[in-house]
Amino acid sequence: MVYLKNSGGDPFYVADFRVRVFQKLKLPTLKERYMVLKESGWNTFRIPVEKVYIDLLTDSGVNAISLEQLSDMLGLGLEDAYAGNRAFYKLINVFKEFFPHEYIVLAHQGRAAENLVFKALMKNGKKPYVLTNVHFTTTRAIVERVYGGRIIELPVPEAFNPDNLYEFKGNIDVAKLEDEIRRLRPDNIAAVRIEYASNLLGGQPFSMKNYYETKEICDKYGLPLIADISMADWQIALMKKRDPMVSGKSAAEIINELMELTDLSYASARKGFYVRGGFITVKDNKELYEEIRSWQVVFEGHTSYGGMSLKEVAMLIDGLKMAFDDDLPFYELEQIKYTVEKLDERGVPVIKPPGGLGVHVDARRFLPHVPLIPNGEKGGYPAGALACALYLVSGIRGMERGQLSMDRDPETWKEIPVELDLVRLAMPRKTYLQSHLDYLLDRLTWLFENKDLVKGLKWIYEPPVLRFFEGILLDQDNWGSRLMEAYEKQLGEI
Ligand code: F0G
Repeated sequence: MVYLKNSGGDPFYVADFRVRVFQKLKLPTLKERYMVLKESGWNTFRIPVEKVYIDLLTDSGVNAISLEQLSDMLGLGLEDAYAGNRAFYKLINVFKEFFPHEYIVLAHQGRAAENLVFKALMKNGKKPYVLTNVHFTTTRAIVERVYGGRIIELPVPEAFNPDNLYEFKGNIDVAKLEDEIRRLRPDNIAAVRIEYASNLLGGQPFSMKNYYETKEICDKYGLPLIADISMADWQIALMKKRDPMVSGKSAAEIINELMELTDLSYASARKGFYVRGGFITVKDNKELYEEIRSWQVVFEGHTSYGGMSLKEVAMLIDGLKMAFDDDLPFYELEQIKYTVEKLDERGVPVIKPPGGLGVHVDARRFLPHVPLIPNGEKGGYPAGALACALYLVSGIRGMERGQLSMDRDPETWKEIPVELDLVRLAMPRKTYLQSHLDYLLDRLTWLFENKDLVKGLKWIYEPPVLRFFEGILLDQDNWGSRLMEAYEKQLGEI
């Protein structure tokens, strides 16, 4: 973004990129959308993308690519080699510009990086606990289901209050952190993990002060501070807007400062780094690096590609530069802010303050008549139902991020009630335009005015792990058909 003054003297902003590759989109008719939902088991993850008009499911692997990345995709000038390819060495040099870390390990995506990290840090279950500001779904699955450990979440009290305007909801509660370390004993703790622009909180950042305090506690108890930096781009851009401790610093300086405090970082490069892949950086612990690298060769491939194609290794070079650019990450932040502020004005319950990642609609307050957890014949999962309802009335695909995304307790098979039950409308980087946002606003407002027509969802098939991806559900009492009729009466067949 370029931040300027308009001719009336007020602040305004203009996008600092142009788009030269485009994709024609088609809005399926209302009836088609209804059939699609039925065939997809009332689960937006199962909808084929050609049936989606505006895809706000995720920002992962669906960002626009830069001109430099396009040229890397052609692979011209890249020499493929099983070991020691040239792009890898170039990539390492660019990493060094942003990370004061000795070691870089590539992986095919974020969860593969997580697998390597927690395999090494948890020492086959001997160190079962991972303390964190907030978990992510794949992190929990790997720590708990794969390595038999436990995630302990220690967010600040403001984090789960959608109306609280606290600007650093991604902070970890440092007092609780120290108490928990003492209670669990440092020997049993694999790491303290901080997620940048925390996904399940709605893309909320932590503050630099909180990070320093966390590091101090980690040092006091000899624990590694590790960071999930999949969305470091938005974390840093939000810090620049809000955090006096980084005032006047460039993104490159901020990431260097953060990484100086961090023992190990890992990322899904599919998000802030604009390329399908993943990586791990290790500051200076050679033994830890060697263990991670030895398993990388088993699970991911040779060190110089780690499960990524050579073209993707090369694309990550520019991906790093874009993530730590001083202007580019602000485009989506402004889109999110615009949409959140307009929805808030119209009374639609959304997570505030606007953060990174996307617009997060608070489904429990949007659909207060839908129970969080299904009970007998009465369906549940407000956010799951709302994501389906939005697709029906608009062809816009969002994602449930709430009760459905939280797997059951593996021991008792009981539901673990979530604090936030959200529909996430993610903003893929450099992909959508102002008219798309205005369409979203219009249809979501219509849905809010007709919310009583939406009821809950019930299971038809519930997978045991990461159930939200492939689960099949049903609309309780056929509410979908009634919503369709109401829409058709007022707004027509499209
Ligand atoms: N960590 C965070 C913070 C993530 O947001 C993700 C993925 C991962 C790890 C796992 O990475 O998908 O490359 O294996 N987030 C995606 C999303 C799926 O839509 O938010 P992955």
